[in-house]
Parts: sequence; C-alpha cells; structure tokens
Amino acid sequence: MTADIARPATTAGNATTAGKTPAYIALDEHYAAHTYHPLPVVIKEAKGAWVTDVDGRRYLDCLAGYSALNFGHGHPAILAAAHSQLDRLTLTSRAFHHDLLGEFARDLANLVGMDAMLPMNSGAEGVETAIKLARKWGYEVKSVAPEQANIVVAKGNFHGRTVSIVSFSSDPQAKGNFGPYTPGFREVPFGDAIALAGAIDDSTVAVLIEPIQGEAGVVIPPDGYLRAVRRICTEAGVLFVADEIQSGLGRTGRTLACDYEDVQPDVLILGKALGGGVLPVSAVLANWPVMDVLRPGEHGSTFGGNPLACAVGKAVVGLLATGEFQQRAAILGGQLSDRLIGLLGHGVMNFRCRGLWAGIDVDPAVGTGRDVCEELMRHGVLAKDTHGSTIRLAPPLVVSPSDIDLAVDALASALNSLAR
Ligand SMILES: Cc1ncc(COP(=O)(O)O)c(C=O)c1O
Repeated sequence: MTADIARPATTAGNATTAGKTPAYIALDEHYAAHTYHPLPVVIKEAKGAWVTDVDGRRYLDCLAGYSALNFGHGHPAILAAAHSQLDRLTLTSRAFHHDLLGEFARDLANLVGMDAMLPMNSGAEGVETAIKLARKWGYEVKSVAPEQANIVVAKGNFHGRTVSIVSFSSDPQAKGNFGPYTPGFREVPFGDAIALAGAIDDSTVAVLIEPIQGEAGVVIPPDGYLRAVRRICTEAGVLFVADEIQSGLGRTGRTLACDYEDVQPDVLILGKALGGGVLPVSAVLANWPVMDVLRPGEHGSTFGGNPLACAVGKAVVGLLATGEFQQRAAILGGQLSDRLIGLLGHGVMNFRCRGLWAGIDVDPAVGTGRDVCEELMRHGVLAKDTHGSTIRLAPPLVVSPSDIDLAVDALASALNSLAR
C-alpha cells in the first residue's frame, strides 16, 4: 500500500468542547440550516485515515464521508489528477465535448462490465436518473401503458433526499411532511425474494435495491438473495437496478457488492467514492439497449461529467483497477470482524460486517448509538450512529491493521465507560 497515511503524534485523548471548537460550532448553528446533528468536533485538516480538529486533536476517521473517502483523505494520485486538471480545464457544460469524458466513461464502463455511462453529480441525482431511465425503458421498450410504470423498492432503503426518492422511503424522518409524494413505487421487505416476485406485475419496469443497506445499519441480505433478484427480474422482463453508491467501489472487499453473488445488474448507480473525496461525482451505467432510450434533450446536468469530475473519477477508477483496495478491504475487514466478535456480550449485541463496513448494534442498556459515538470521539475515533442503537464503522480503505485495532479498542473502552 503506497498511500501516505499520516500517523498520529497523539490521538484525541480527552476531546473536549474547550478551545476554538465551541465558537466554530456556534457560528454553524447560527447561520447554517439545522439539517444535521454533527458530533461536536470541528475538523480542520486530514490525511489518509486521520483528521485533525481546530484545536489540534487527532481522530481516526471511521466514517470516511459515508464511504465517499474510500481512498482516504488527500490520496496523492487523486489530488495530483485534480490539481493538474484545475489548472487546465474545469467546466465546459455538455454543450461541447471535452477531452476526458470519453476516457472516464470507457474506464468506468470497463471496470464494471457495462457498455455505457451517464455522468451526474450527487448520488440522489444518480438515483433519479436511474428511475427516469427505467420508466422510459418501460414505456418505450416494454410497452407499459402510459403513466402506469411502477418500481419495486425495499423497506428500509436509503437512496437520497429528493422528493421522488423520499416518496418511497420507510423512514418517517426522511419522508414526513414532504408530500405530496411521487407515485409509482411499491415496497417489499429487504432480503425477501418471494415478496419481491409477488410485487411485480406487467407494469413493473424495475426493481431498485441497495445490495447492502448502508443507512439501515449495514444490513446484508441472506445469501442467494441477489442471485434470486437477478433471476426474478430476468424472468419478468424487469430491470434490476443496483444502487451501489455506498456499497460499491471497494468498500465491501470487491469492486461491487453485487460481485459477491456474481450478479450483473441491468442498471448500476455509483457515487460517493467515485469523486475521490474531492467533489460529487455519480454515474449511472447500463448496456446500450437500455441506455439508448435517453436521447439528446431528455436528461442532463450542467455539471455532470465536467472535466474536473472526469479527471478525478478516472484517477479513482485507476486505483480500483489495481485491485489493491478491494484486497485491502477484504483483509482488514476480516481483522475488523474477528476483533468485533470479542465485543459480543460486552456492550455489543450483534454486528454485521462485509469488507471494511460494519454495522454494530449496541446494547441499549449501555447507551444509544449517539452516546457511543460521542464517547468514541472522546477516545479518538469518529463514527456515526444510525437508527437508534446501531453504529457504523467504515474507515477509509487506507487504514492500517494497527488503526483497526485502535478503533476496536476505543469502542471497547467507550462501551466500558458508558456501562460504568
Ligand atoms: C445507497 C445510497 N444511495 C444514494 C445516496 C444519496 O447520495 P447523495 O447524498 O450523494 O445524494 C446515499 C447516501 O448516503 C446512499 O447511501
């Protein structure tokens, strides 16, 4: 591993809210919309898997920007690509060609075994794009009656924050009071292939799932589920749309989480790590018989596929093409999983781990997920809770074996402190 991982002189130790931290937080609170509930840490700089706050405390980043930082903070190859592109050309719009779009599209399509790529920016835009693509394909290729297309989705999903996407969210916080909602979605339990098959009818154009549900708490479906989804979709003439925005690009120990069951979706959505932790880059991939239903003027984005995004995305694909990061996630993920077993019954009730991605259910008697994350922060590790009592560990794939030990030791200490 060549990534230049910054080593801590001292870790956070007794993180406090003293020093410069409170003033920065107060300014945020005063002027920035209150759509998040961040941990009370103000990060100033970062390298590899480690971040430093405005008061000089260092923390191991075990969230990695919700997997947008799979290659760590400031990976030299990604930064070099961004820097040289910044000086050359950053934006043309798609009204003109530029010299990097084709190369990025080719490299990404080859990496995941698809014909073509459609570039967007945020993950939610990628999901919206896939929904439009599936509906258009349904009307024009499958001959679904006008306005009747439906898409089957999984309960517990998280695909982003737009109105159409929250319309099929099962999370009341994400959905409440944002109606009227976009129709045309049907929910089935995640991991239940029989329910999925039962929800499909002649107007179904797609099944849209995350191969592993990240925000739900790293929920891994039963073995064989993805293969069953593939078979059901093929038999019913329905597109299998895989949202690998969080699960993809090395996180699970393979390039895609779908690779674990050797299935190829019809439409693949990527985001987060595709932007190398530098800027938002998302992409929808499909083979030409599907992709070609979108014609000029029917979909687009001013910034989608801009030269800077393509330079960074191409560097990311170059890193993944070596296989080094996938291998690293698989090996270090094994270490993480082995170490977490030791915490079962000691404040941890259950955990799920695939590659360097763990969802850990903490004993509610010890504290909430938020309590654990605050305590972890005081022990020098940044992580994020989800759904009450689950915390996620998803460090950048450049972490070292001793970083993994440090994270699990910190979790053990945090749980002990809370239990006292
Ligand atoms: C699986 C999945 N899809 C879509 C999104 C939305 O991505 P973005 O926040 O870039 O819009 C996320 C973000 O967490 C995600 O995890």
